Amino acid sequence: MPPQLKRLLPLFAAFVIVFLIVRQLLIPESFGEHGHYRFNSVEDNKIKELHYAGKDMCNDCHEDQAINLASDVHATIACETCHGPGLAHIELETATSIIKPTDRNFCGLCHALSPTRKSNVIVQVDLSDHNIEQLCIECHNPHMPWELKE
Ligand code: HEC
Ligand code: HEC
Ligand code: HEC
Ligand code: HEC
Repeated sequence: MPPQLKRLLPLFAAFVIVFLIVRQLLIPESFGEHGHYRFNSVEDNKIKELHYAGKDMCNDCHEDQAINLASDVHATIACETCHGPGLAHIELETATSIIKPTDRNFCGLCHALSPTRKSNVIVQVDLSDHNIEQLCIECHNPHMPWELKE
């Protein structure tokens, strides 16, 4: 073996040792216990506060709205997509503990005319032209948009 290579060998060994020590220090506790992840992260996530309840929970107390929603074009949208997180509302059972989005711009989040969206996926209307004098929900029932109000 050429002498210059021999001199490199201890350097290489030192590098491997430093790597192993640093690796040992950096790997978090419980890593690899049940797979290639930090098992303690499961506990960390379990103690996080919940905010959303899920669609089925709403249906227990609001059967009419659930039936209406399922019958029309908004069937695929979850209650909490429009009404926001509802877990606190379920505990309190008050009207003020939940959002009721009545603004035209709210419907516009999905339906406002935009050249960057495909209009064949979600039907778009020009908010500055489509019945601008009124709120959307004065004509469209938000749970059954094709059930136009009188
Ligand atoms: C345990 C029964 C219960 C559950 C479950 C429940 N609610 Fe309610 N909800 C109520 C009561 C009671 C009211 C108040 C009715 C009133 O004041 O006329 C209410 C009112 C509402 C209102 C009207 C608010 C207003 O300003 O008029 C909305 C919207 C609503 N709930 C949405 C939801 C959604 C979304 C869920 C699921 C996340 C849900 N609720 C789950 C009992 C419930
Ligand atoms: C597309 C958005 C949207 C979705 C999805 C939606 N809501 Fe609503 N909801 C509204 C709006 C907007 C109002 C206010 C209507 C009004 O004041 O005329 C409302 C009103 C209500 C009210 C008050 C009473 C009423 O009928 O006006 C209740 C209760 C309610 N929603 C429950 C639900 C539940 C339960 C679900 C899921 C099964 C749901 N909503 C899904 C937008 C939505
Ligand atoms: C989270 C996105 C979302 C929101 C918010 C939303 N919609 Fe929709 N809407 C949809 C989807 C998805 C459809 C089904 C696809 C379609 O027909 O465009 C739909 C369908 C409709 C249709 C039928 C369109 C057609 O010709 O098929 C009307 C009318 C409508 N929505 C009105 C409203 C009104 C009014 C509001 C506000 C209260 C609202 N939407 C809020 C997503 C949304
Ligand atoms: C004065 C009543 C009225 C108001 C307010 C209103 N709409 Fe409509 N909307 C209608 C009628 C009627 C139709 C069907 C005829 C048409 O396309 O104009 C319709 C059609 C639609 C369609 C389907 C369009 C298509 O090309 O198939 C969507 C989506 C829609 N409205 C969303 C909304 C949204 C979002 C708002 C609020 C920003 C709103 N509407 C406000 C009465 C109304």
